Amino acid sequence: MARTGADGSFRLASRGVPPFKTKMTEPILAVGLGVGERLAILRKAKYNLFSVRSADVALDFLTDSGTGAMSQEQWAAMMVGDEAYAGATSFTRFAGAFRRITGLRYVLPAHQGRAAERSLFEGLKASGRISEDSIIASNAFFDTTLGWASSFCRCENLYCGDFEAGNTVERPFKGDLELSRLKRLASENPGKVGLVLLTITNNTGGGQPASMANIRELSGFCRKEGILFFFDACRFAENAYFIHEREPGYARKTIKEIVWEMFSYVDGATFSAKKDARTNIGGAILFSAGHEKLYLACRPSIIRNEGLFTYGGMAGRDLEAVARGIEETTELQYLRSRVGQVATLHGLLAGMGVPLVSPAGGHAVYIDAKEYLARVPESEYRSDTLALLLYAMGGIRSVAIGNMMYAKKDAKGRILEPAKNDFVRLAIPRNVYSLDHMLYAAAVFGKVGRAKEALRRGVRVGPGFRNDHFDHFDCAMELADKKDFERAAQSA
Ligand code: F0G
Repeated sequence: MARTGADGSFRLASRGVPPFKTKMTEPILAVGLGVGERLAILRKAKYNLFSVRSADVALDFLTDSGTGAMSQEQWAAMMVGDEAYAGATSFTRFAGAFRRITGLRYVLPAHQGRAAERSLFEGLKASGRISEDSIIASNAFFDTTLGWASSFCRCENLYCGDFEAGNTVERPFKGDLELSRLKRLASENPGKVGLVLLTITNNTGGGQPASMANIRELSGFCRKEGILFFFDACRFAENAYFIHEREPGYARKTIKEIVWEMFSYVDGATFSAKKDARTNIGGAILFSAGHEKLYLACRPSIIRNEGLFTYGGMAGRDLEAVARGIEETTELQYLRSRVGQVATLHGLLAGMGVPLVSPAGGHAVYIDAKEYLARVPESEYRSDTLALLLYAMGGIRSVAIGNMMYAKKDAKGRILEPAKNDFVRLAIPRNVYSLDHMLYAAAVFGKVGRAKEALRRGVRVGPGFRNDHFDHFDCAMELADKKDFERAAQSA
């Protein structure tokens, strides 16, 4: 397996030349802000980074979703978008690209991933494939997916043993779904598991990939048991790249061949084009040739929620950009550069002793805030505290994927059962930042690493807390000890 440690990450030359150069730039307006100004911004934003203006952010690692830089071919394609309400040629190209890349037959467009998920679950319900007492199993649901899926059925995250082995244990496919756990779940709940949804790569679990072996095994089991098997395919190309790099027998295959094989094992997929299609908006539901009925059962939901089934909430020009995007994203040299940049940041931080999920994920670096801020009480939301400190000290916007998102809490936001992990995710937008930006991020961690030694207190939830799956997006937070936090932020 490729080394991702401090030295391994600098084998930049062996990755070859990144296959793009910059033609147009976008200013980062927040370059002149200091710690004092950023602390004032945080106060105004009620300590929720989703409420900070992007103009006040130096490095925006909040998400890799819809934030990538498109290619000139994608921009050019947008000029020929067919904006007809029905039967647009842009849809023909969109659907054709998905068919060519995945081999799946039926394509429904949706304006983004969560809309695709909603229509899939509505279609599954309408066709009697799931009901309230059904179970959907996943390697791990992402937040909005869990929000939708859990409003239809019971949801179970079935992490694999390699993931459970610990954040620092380097294994090639920590995004696998543990088949033995799925078998147990299915035998303890006969006839109840309606769908297995494999998230590739596993966003909640460190951006880690699933192996082809796991995909094949899951497919075999699901087919035998009559369970539907779908991908949450947001980062399918990055997953394919890891299979190419790490799984025996795949080094000589092209990414497109690997992607084709991956999708040959599933009944369908939901897709957010905002990730691996490198577009600013877009999504789709895909179904294999045997699932015309399910496709037809989902179609009314797309019409009701998204618009006609040949545009699905997107403009014709967006359909064009997605069609080019999924072709380009399945090129080896692009993926080498893309996943390599994430590995570079991972290597820099690992070299500084920051506790990380290792190896590096495909789209993001995950910091173990539970360990990094061990002096802050767990009840005071360590990952949110760290995310605030990164912003205050360096203008870096990240996202906490931990207790605020997934812990069981009481009505006042007190943690009853901590989440499995308390991560801060640095998600790297595609083709947007340079090595210099990564070096800047590492320098900020140098300061944060010193400042956190003095930090004793974290944050608690503030007004607006609802205790649902979406609090992290808009709930106010409060510093448990304002002086303690501001002193630490200003210490370096
Ligand atoms: N599934 C996964 C694995 C995701 O990461 C996301 C979005 C979605 C579904 C929903 O897609 O945003 O187009 O509606 N993840 C973003 C993130 C928001 O920051 O990781 P969407």
